[in-house]
Amino acid sequence: MKRAGTRSNRKDGARITPLLLAWYDTNARDLPWRAKGGKRAKPYHVWLSEIMLQQTVVKAVIPYFETFIARFPTIDDLARAERDEVLRLWAGLGYYSRARNLHACAQRVVEEHRGQFPKTIEGLKKLPGIGVYTAGAIAAIAFGKPEAAIDGNVERVMARLYAIDVPVAEAKSFIREKTEALIPEDRPGDFAQALMDLGATICIPKAPRCAQCPLTKQCKAHKANEATLFPVRVAKKAKPQKYGAAFVVRRKDGAMLLVDRPDKGLLGGMTGVPTSEWVETPFDEALLIDSAPVKARWKKHDQPVVHVFTHFSLTLTIYVAEIVQNVALKAPYRWSSANGPEGEALPTLFRKVIKAVS
Ligand code: ADE
Repeated sequence: MKRAGTRSNRKDGARITPLLLAWYDTNARDLPWRAKGGKRAKPYHVWLSEIMLQQTVVKAVIPYFETFIARFPTIDDLARAERDEVLRLWAGLGYYSRARNLHACAQRVVEEHRGQFPKTIEGLKKLPGIGVYTAGAIAAIAFGKPEAAIDGNVERVMARLYAIDVPVAEAKSFIREKTEALIPEDRPGDFAQALMDLGATICIPKAPRCAQCPLTKQCKAHKANEATLFPVRVAKKAKPQKYGAAFVVRRKDGAMLLVDRPDKGLLGGMTGVPTSEWVETPFDEALLIDSAPVKARWKKHDQPVVHVFTHFSLTLTIYVAEIVQNVALKAPYRWSSANGPEGEALPTLFRKVIKAVS
């Protein structure tokens, strides 16, 4: 990191940083990946939590983090695991390329770095699934390096602190300069996490709790009584809609017809119930015969399932069939065990579909 050494940046560091750290000392969230009593957290724990926290809130991550640490206490355990088991344990957390990269990253660290994470941003960024933000977070929290970890929460805090009057996408380098100028030599990891906690608990998007904020005197947006006007918004584009059919086929003994999805693409490497293609026009029932995995007497379920992905919203019409005789299936189709699909690597979309017709 290059320190931006202007006089005003140094002044900000001297005033803002001690206030933020003092606030963190009494208000830090008690999270399972954080070390207690001034100790430094284990790099494996920091990395695992940061990958899980990409695009996902802390509350959703905690049980997954605990399951992973219990099942894979060390990075060697994770590297040695079957990828399918990693995907099964990740199911429900979303953004499944993270799980594939997690496993690949563990193997690289074990094979090429003797199980030790690189300590520099450059070294960390070469690993699968680690971008600028995650590299900064690991370097600061696990290795005490004076690096910034700037995610959407931190951008919001900085946009308010400095009343940045352009959308954050246009102010990336200014935000980086200002954030880096605040990093204390002695507690970069605590500083990174203090900013994260402030953004998650006080400087929240809609109704910021300015009365509880340690930085109100320094916050330019608060001074102008305008915290909620920052960050400056850009008009959101409407989400595209997609449509398709999902096929729930149950065998008499309780098995369900499943499909192992290809490695690449959305929900790659995960398991689901078969679906038609997802298209941009409302579903045409004539397509049903072509895309169904088996011949059967289909019953249309009265309620479709709607699931919102990052880049589009999907409406799946569900067709259900009971199969009496045992039909042999070819990959990628297969039957679940007679207990049904419980324990499979099923993303939330497919859990919703199955729940809707159960
Ligand atoms: N969000 C991303 N990383 C985090 C961390 N280490 N602690 C709390 N919230 C976070």
